[in-house]
Amino acid sequence: MKKIFLAISKGRIMDEALILLKKNNIECDISPNKSRKLIFKTNYENLNIIVVRASDVPMYIESGKVDLGIVGKDTLLESNVDNYFFLRDLKIASCKLVVAGKKNKKLVSNMKIATKYPNLTQEFFLSKGIPCSVLKLYGSMELAAVLNLSDAIVDLVDTGKTLKENGLEKICLIDNITSHLIVNKSSYKIKKNEINKFITRISAQ
Ligand code: ATP
Ligand code: PRP
Repeated sequence: MKKIFLAISKGRIMDEALILLKKNNIECDISPNKSRKLIFKTNYENLNIIVVRASDVPMYIESGKVDLGIVGKDTLLESNVDNYFFLRDLKIASCKLVVAGKKNKKLVSNMKIATKYPNLTQEFFLSKGIPCSVLKLYGSMELAAVLNLSDAIVDLVDTGKTLKENGLEKICLIDNITSHLIVNKSSYKIKKNEINKFITRISAQ
């Protein structure tokens, strides 16, 4: 039986992914939330779980060092990797990717947009035929719009609480986001049986 390596994004996605795996009786030998280890054995055949930052998952899959990944659609849209196949929408860690700003802001030409997602932001505005400039920030995006560092932001929204408490609102939806299961193209050829068996196991709920 060939070993399979599955990368899971730390944080929100990992919390929900571990619950999904547990529902299917797959568990790590040590809880990743209680350990500083980065690679975990599981009780499922030769499955090993790797814990990485969300934005690093595409690189591990692209390189083939890791076979499978659980990663947000937002991270996939932003990355420029393509050496993978989409396997399943796991429908976990769902949220929305939006353009947001102060009340009554509209999309207009040459807006400055603050975001963690410069590539997908440029693509979205290009697809609308609206030129924009992008300011890359790493967190608390809402602040940029509140302090007029930018005209608007592109960010994830879940409950809407962060926008509301900072006096901002959605201008438009870019995409609905969930976490996807992806596989390195070569891994899928070499380990097809093992990977298909794993997908069947986690799909059978
Ligand atoms: P990184 O470590 O790469 O900076 P991060 O710290 O932003 O990532 P998390 O916020 O724990 O990591 O998880 C981010 C992923 O979780 C997103 O890519 C998205 O797919 C998903 N997600 C679900 N709900 C939310 C939310 N409310 N805010 C942000 N991300 C969310
Ligand atoms: C995320 C996201 C929003 C907020 C949305 O931030 O960037 O700010 O959550 O969630 P809500 O709609 O439920 O309020 P995160 O907590 O990851 O912190 P960050 O700003 O440091 O990225």
